Amino acid sequence: MGDTELVKNVYYVGAMHRDRRLFDELIPLPEGTSYNSYLVIGSEKTALIDTVDPDKIEELILKLKALQIKKLDYIIVDHAEQDHSGGITRVREEYPGAKVVTNEKCKGMLKDLLLLEEDVFISVKDREVLSLGDKSLEFIFTPWVHWPETMSVYMKETGILFSCDMFGSHRAIPDIFKQEGFEGPAKRYFAEIMSPFRNNVRTNLEKLKVLDIKIIAPSHGIIFKEAKVIFAAYEDWASENVKNEVLLAYVSMHGSTKKMVEVLKAALMARGIKVHLFNLATSDLGEIAVALMDSATVIIGASTVLAGIHPLAANAAYIVNALRPKTKFASMVTSFGWGEKAVEVFKGIMTNFKGELLTPVISKGYPKATELTEINRLADEILKKHKEIGIG
Ligand code: FEO
Repeated sequence: MGDTELVKNVYYVGAMHRDRRLFDELIPLPEGTSYNSYLVIGSEKTALIDTVDPDKIEELILKLKALQIKKLDYIIVDHAEQDHSGGITRVREEYPGAKVVTNEKCKGMLKDLLLLEEDVFISVKDREVLSLGDKSLEFIFTPWVHWPETMSVYMKETGILFSCDMFGSHRAIPDIFKQEGFEGPAKRYFAEIMSPFRNNVRTNLEKLKVLDIKIIAPSHGIIFKEAKVIFAAYEDWASENVKNEVLLAYVSMHGSTKKMVEVLKAALMARGIKVHLFNLATSDLGEIAVALMDSATVIIGASTVLAGIHPLAANAAYIVNALRPKTKFASMVTSFGWGEKAVEVFKGIMTNFKGELLTPVISKGYPKATELTEINRLADEILKKHKEIGIG
């Protein structure tokens, strides 16, 4: 890896996890990920900001040794999730005097997750400042990006914001400052991690706006030496705006649902609507999450299995429901042989969905003229609904 000094005496000491392919055993990682940890050497005290995933902790230890760090005063913990906190115990083995500095909520979580004892902690409050001598660390509570205890750290002497998960991206790339091409991975990460917390993201952006932030150093992916670029992208992604687009995700066992989906796709495109088409048997969940961010409408296409929705479609509906998208309209196209409960199951899954459920299209067997007419009716309705909200 190239240069790792952000500014004088502030170092990247994190680890790249290039061959990690899943996060939370769920989210695909086409470019791996990184766990960003930072070392701040003040004139009087030295602090480590976050650790790394336990799988990579020895890399962090080696980096601290290479920098000839003999004493560590503080381990700042912005977030209790173990991809950042999981290395604390090992770091304290090497640096037994290091105090764990975090907020009360995070402290409670770290006791539960890592079995840390009360006496290792120093608790801080929102906007409290910790002096390292010629540098200072201000703790800014930024809850729900990603968990309720999440906080950021601002160093006013350098204008660096250590933002933890917020502004991150899952990438393991050699140059941690390579800002070009950031948008795709950062948007994908936002879609997967931040999207359900859009309201909190907006609140936190307002809180951070008053600071003179020059550099954003998140806990995953690249470091932004031009902070305003990713800040502006977040303002856009966290908005409630949607586009004249439809997410059409389907699974088809014997071709009936596939035919319905193909006809619907063509009908929507003929009406000037952009369609994001995904075959759920082969698609990347991250790409579906990105398409979901912009789509005004979600349509799930599903074969029927044992009288209910095909499990791949059920999983897609579950993910859509969990991500609480800004999507305004949803519906289904579905086919069945002998059991007709797919729509019922779909509605039962989509309990968080606050938009409007449009009348689905259901085909007994292969779609015939009646169903194909119905599909065109659904396309007409989607266009009408999009026009009503000013995007058609
Ligand atoms: Fe990267 Fe929520 O941990």
